[in-house]
Amino acid sequence: MITQQVLLRDAMRRLAMTRDAFADRIGSRRRALDSWLLPDDSNEFRAMPEVARRFVQEILANAAACAEAATQSVYREPAKPGVALTHLLSVDQFTRESAEDLFRLADVMLPIARRRKVTRVLEGAVLANLFFEASTRTRVSFGAAFCRLGGSVCDTTGFTFSSMAKGESIHDTSRVIAGYADAIVVRHPEQGAVAEFARATNVPVVNGGDGPGEHPTQALLDLYTIQREFSRLGKHVDGAHIALVGDLKYGRTVHSLIKLLALYKGVRFTLIAPPSLEMPAAIIDRVSRNGNVVEVRDSLQGLADADIVYATRIQKERFAEESIEGYGAAFEIDRALVERVCKPDVVVMHPLPRDSRPGSHDLAADLDGDPRLAIFRQADNGIPVRMAIFASLLGVDKLVQRSMRDAQWTPPTFIGPEDSPFHGLD
Ligand code: NCD
Repeated sequence: MITQQVLLRDAMRRLAMTRDAFADRIGSRRRALDSWLLPDDSNEFRAMPEVARRFVQEILANAAACAEAATQSVYREPAKPGVALTHLLSVDQFTRESAEDLFRLADVMLPIARRRKVTRVLEGAVLANLFFEASTRTRVSFGAAFCRLGGSVCDTTGFTFSSMAKGESIHDTSRVIAGYADAIVVRHPEQGAVAEFARATNVPVVNGGDGPGEHPTQALLDLYTIQREFSRLGKHVDGAHIALVGDLKYGRTVHSLIKLLALYKGVRFTLIAPPSLEMPAAIIDRVSRNGNVVEVRDSLQGLADADIVYATRIQKERFAEESIEGYGAAFEIDRALVERVCKPDVVVMHPLPRDSRPGSHDLAADLDGDPRLAIFRQADNGIPVRMAIFASLLGVDKLVQRSMRDAQWTPPTFIGPEDSPFHGLD
């Protein structure tokens, strides 16, 4: 049986309802709904009455009957022998419904990500984590997600210590690694290289970032984060105002995220970048549909009225010039700017790493500890979302819930000293 938290989150997502509207719909008080959504071991957690669970299930069944065709996940293709499993290369593989299916599975993973439960559904499986570019969170969180499903991880980092330094082709490397591993995550400095990698194998390949191209799993965890933050704040992705700031030309996270967000309706995008680092026109063109509006601004005054401010690092490793024309202190997002310009309930995000060196003008550290700053919740969400991706790709998604056992150790209640009890914010 799925947990009440998974059921309720799924219901609110599918019905596109805020907590207030949903509480109203099921005839409960908002406070009761909040208490049903808390982790089981929180002091304020309450079990949802059976009658309420049945009512929610009924509402969901009716909604599903109306939107039946839409709920096929991109991963669940018919398992014909010899046919390749789907790789995860681009957000273009997703519909709104399949992204939300994945988020439902990520919700199922939350007690494991919070270290209250364990599972062994991927026991014996091996992940090859091939990172030919710098990475901390993507590499470690993919590895940790696979381990938390019971699998093991083999890593290789950089070209220097791989046979590519000896001139080996992507094709050969891919085919060889496929003989050793059951899933492969690749990060590579060239756009399209991960897709080339995927063409040489039937083992699922996940794009961990291909040059300035895409970073689909980051976009998925970003959207998951936006939905969770919005659920708490009583907002919807449909009709939201999302501001993307910084290096929009070479930043692959924003390329994937804006395309994924464009699956929603009536989204207003404000793009703020120095003139040499603007979002590629082809992407702007693509997302300016579905009633979505894109406005290009050249100053942070454009953040007024944004629901989400998504800052990015200047991708210095992708171009030769030492300094970027037009980029300076006027692009720095700090507490004073947020207080002066932004809405009081703005959510500030960043894919991280932020460049904290003096003169970088990346997202400042003086918002740390402020609940509007979602960057660490965002990074934490990489675990349940990447677990959901692996479970889908390897076909164990249905087994996770009933495989869970209690964890034998006790994690700290606050992951960081400034955190709320492991996301008890929601
Ligand atoms: C980003 C990346 O590598 O694209 N980081 C990440 O994966 N979270 C962003 C960056 O490096 O600036």
